[in-house]
Amino acid sequence: MSKQPNIIAIDGPAASGKSTLGERLAKHFGYLYFDTGVMYRAVTWAVLHSSCDVRDEIAVTKIAENTQIEVLPPSAACRKYDVLIDGRDITDEIRSPEVEAMVSVVSAYPGVRRAMSLQQRRIGLRGNVVMVGRDIGTVVLPEAPLKVYLEASVEVRAKRRLLEVKQRDPQMSYEEVLQALMRRDEIDSTRSVAPLRPADDAHIIHTDNLTIEEVVRKVIDLSRGV
Ligand code: DC
Repeated sequence: MSKQPNIIAIDGPAASGKSTLGERLAKHFGYLYFDTGVMYRAVTWAVLHSSCDVRDEIAVTKIAENTQIEVLPPSAACRKYDVLIDGRDITDEIRSPEVEAMVSVVSAYPGVRRAMSLQQRRIGLRGNVVMVGRDIGTVVLPEAPLKVYLEASVEVRAKRRLLEVKQRDPQMSYEEVLQALMRRDEIDSTRSVAPLRPADDAHIIHTDNLTIEEVVRKVIDLSRGV
């Protein structure tokens, strides 16, 4: 790679460390950090707060097409961004167990994915962006000059996610987090449209035995063609 990549795509399963890596890289390069999972979570929140059944694909798709999701710079130091739906701040609510349990179902619907991918692609093509998700390198921005796919065992991911979740819900057990991750892995990787998988030209990094600093360093080296 001769010059600094202007689009960095990061994909991988839930709790593989994508968002921490994405944020650090965005800071390093002075790029926009865009976490696409937030959009699927926002649609799921909107569905759960409507009278529509999550299993009703047509109604859920209509909600995805007609809801205005905004991801804005954070209004508080403890946040990475503010997420608004039709003007209402739902930043904290999109991490609730209810949203967590249903987001894989909602994000498997092709019409929902079409609506979200179009918006994400438009933002990504402006460049100077680190975009994080499940299908960024394969579908949203296949032309990204640097693609990274993070892998980690489900046990290591469950341990990392538990530390995060415990701050909000001290009752949560390792076993519950592990089961929820396994369910999401299964749905995310077997759905018919844009299943979770590395792009053919993605750099695959196994993070079980790496610190976040080591992963960041590896990707910066990759960006320089080291
Ligand atoms: O990264 P996350 O855990 O916030 O993602 C939430 C869900 O959204 C996840 O179960 C899969 C889905 N997702 C997706 O299908 N495609 C993306 N680009 C990002 C997230």
